[in-house]
Amino acid sequence: MTDTLTPADPAPADKAPAYQGPKRILSGIQASGSLHLGNYLGALKRFVEMQDDAPTFVFVADLHAITVPQDPALLGAQTREIAAAYLASGLDPGRSTIFPQSAVREHAELAWIFNCVARLGWLDRMTQFKEKSGKHKERSSVGLYTYPVLQAADILLYRATHVPVGEDQKQHLELTRDIAQKFNNDFGAPQGQPNFFPLPEPVIQGPATRVMSLRDGAAKMSKSDPSDQSRINLLDDADTIAAKVRKARTDPEPLPETLEELKTRAEADNLVGIYAALADEAKAAVLARFAGQGFGVFKPALAELAVEKLGPVTAEMRRLMADPAEIDRVLAAGAERAREVAAPILAETRAKVGFWQGGTV
Ligand code: AMP
Ligand code: TRP
Repeated sequence: MTDTLTPADPAPADKAPAYQGPKRILSGIQASGSLHLGNYLGALKRFVEMQDDAPTFVFVADLHAITVPQDPALLGAQTREIAAAYLASGLDPGRSTIFPQSAVREHAELAWIFNCVARLGWLDRMTQFKEKSGKHKERSSVGLYTYPVLQAADILLYRATHVPVGEDQKQHLELTRDIAQKFNNDFGAPQGQPNFFPLPEPVIQGPATRVMSLRDGAAKMSKSDPSDQSRINLLDDADTIAAKVRKARTDPEPLPETLEELKTRAEADNLVGIYAALADEAKAAVLARFAGQGFGVFKPALAELAVEKLGPVTAEMRRLMADPAEIDRVLAAGAERAREVAAPILAETRAKVGFWQGGTV
């Protein structure tokens, strides 16, 4: 992105040597509404696959959740529900740091500093704000507008280098890189020193980075869709999952042989993508097995697979949600560990900005 508001920006950061810190993985999911198959395949399952690659930080984004109205009586339970989904999907609190975003105050402080780094022109381009604010932009919270700046703070507070997310977060990751780069330029490293913040990479991979609605192959599967038939919720029981798959919208043709042919059939493409992601296969491998077969064969196979893969996650989520004390222990320990990493990075950032350093605060 180019910065239209400050033409006299300093020279580009690529003059300084690239960031040289260790690989760190970080992501989060908002503490609002219930989780669905898109969240599971696009985010949760990917976190679990990545947690062995490098130190992993996964948080419940409750500060982001309050950018739109939330019931204070429910927010804590929603936070625990996301944490339960993390654990039930296979995140191991021994390897991954799992915590509520609001419990690490450094997020909010770094977000303020970044509010003064990001430019209005950058935020004006954010498509998610346009979608979420809809026709009533002037009635949206200011937080909804600066939402992506807080997201940049979440990531850079840990100097995370890799961020597994679904396709819809790509633009926010680009903004994070712009903020990191501008901070590096403006408050930069002493001559010859590597960049202060990394430019984090979005990790948007696999056959299900954008799971579509079961009712409409042109709409994203989303918690805000008024039709519950459009999505499979992580807390749906086996019969509900099977019924939703059976009723999913499709076309009358049998499955094709090639990915090229599949591309023009949004609903069929979506179901094949879901199958592939659940089975840990490539879409081509799924086609190789089902090409020439109609949905009368494919849908029951998909329903069976979905129930087989999601059933244990649902059961474990329910068990954990019945034991909030266990979840709270994980979240409290995670928050403490997260703070140990975040605090020194924020302290260095504060010094770079030039805040008073005369004592400990
Ligand atoms: P959200 O529910 O918006 O907080 O999203 C949490 C994570 O799930 C983010 O990484 C999203 O990109 C991902 N996600 C949400 N909806 C979908 C979808 N339909 N397909 C794939 N990933 C998704
Ligand atoms: N904005 C993300 C979403 O809606 C959630 C999120 C908040 C996030 N902070 C993050 C994701 C930092 C990755 C990294 O899905």
